[in-house]
Amino acid sequence: MLDKVNELIGEVSNFNTTSKEELEAFRIKYLGKKGILNDLFAEFKNVANDQKKEFGQALNTFKNTAENKINDLRSSLEEAALSGTALNDLTRPGEPLKIGSRHPISIVRNQIIDVFSRIGFTVSEGPEIEDDWHNFTALNLPEYHPARDMQDTFFIEQNPDILLRTHTSSVQTRYMENNEPPIRTLSPGRVFRNEDISARAHCIFHQVEGLYIDTDVSFADLKQTLLYFTKEMFGKSKIRLRPSYFPFTEPSAEVDIYWGLETETDYKITKGTGWLEIMGCGMVDPNVLKNANIDPTKYSGYAFGMGIERIAMLLYQIPDIRMFYENDVRFLEQFKSIN
Ligand code: PHE
Repeated sequence: MLDKVNELIGEVSNFNTTSKEELEAFRIKYLGKKGILNDLFAEFKNVANDQKKEFGQALNTFKNTAENKINDLRSSLEEAALSGTALNDLTRPGEPLKIGSRHPISIVRNQIIDVFSRIGFTVSEGPEIEDDWHNFTALNLPEYHPARDMQDTFFIEQNPDILLRTHTSSVQTRYMENNEPPIRTLSPGRVFRNEDISARAHCIFHQVEGLYIDTDVSFADLKQTLLYFTKEMFGKSKIRLRPSYFPFTEPSAEVDIYWGLETETDYKITKGTGWLEIMGCGMVDPNVLKNANIDPTKYSGYAFGMGIERIAMLLYQIPDIRMFYENDVRFLEQFKSIN
């Protein structure tokens, strides 16, 4: 009896097939209801008592061998089926890759650069840690000038000469020192002001400033350039210039665009006026040109500066400036489809 079981174990372990039907027949033959295993179990009562233990063990081995065989063959059959069709099909779409998205600050900065590069502006960059000369003095803001208070400053280690730049006009100072007119440059970058953090203001933000210097540059050139920019960037072609004050430009103006009053959000963001302030601008003060060794009797120029966060908030209806710096993926993922 025991010999017969051992023989069956050998038979089962040697079995092999590549056909599903044969495998099923094998299962029915050995493990089916009327199969060999059940027949052998029925024989159990006829086995002498002192052999019952050994016989029982042999039956278990037989059962396990048959079950393992079936499982192994079944998975290799499935694998073969896959490699025969799906995995060899090179036209199947690939596994979706998780792609990242650009930060909204980068998106808007790139859009602004794109618009101005089409009319000949190039990008210039400079250090975030600046000296007093490039950030203030050269820009017609001598020591003790009250207008310095317009931009609360972070100083480095109590040294009043070394500071975190409060605007990227500092880059323009450097650019003027190292380049001859005609100058057409855009300075994007991170700036720092010692301000309380709220939904509308942060102590770190980003700007793009522009500088144009050539012979016979007039305020009309500035206005046309701004109009071109607002059309390209926002699709809005109505702007107004309000007289303002900046130490480095004279005359100076604040630029508003007519956003409209079509939706409730339009009402909210324009405080019911339809107008939105988007940047500061003006004709470069002759003193600033002089400080950079550019002859103000020969050359004139205009400059403008805007905050990237503010424009991104307008374009994408972002209610709180702090969202830009939290890097919450739920926020960032919303910019996936935009480059
Ligand atoms: N530098 C100014 C600021 O940061 C912006 C500005 C630039 C205004 C150029 C006029 C001309 O507020």
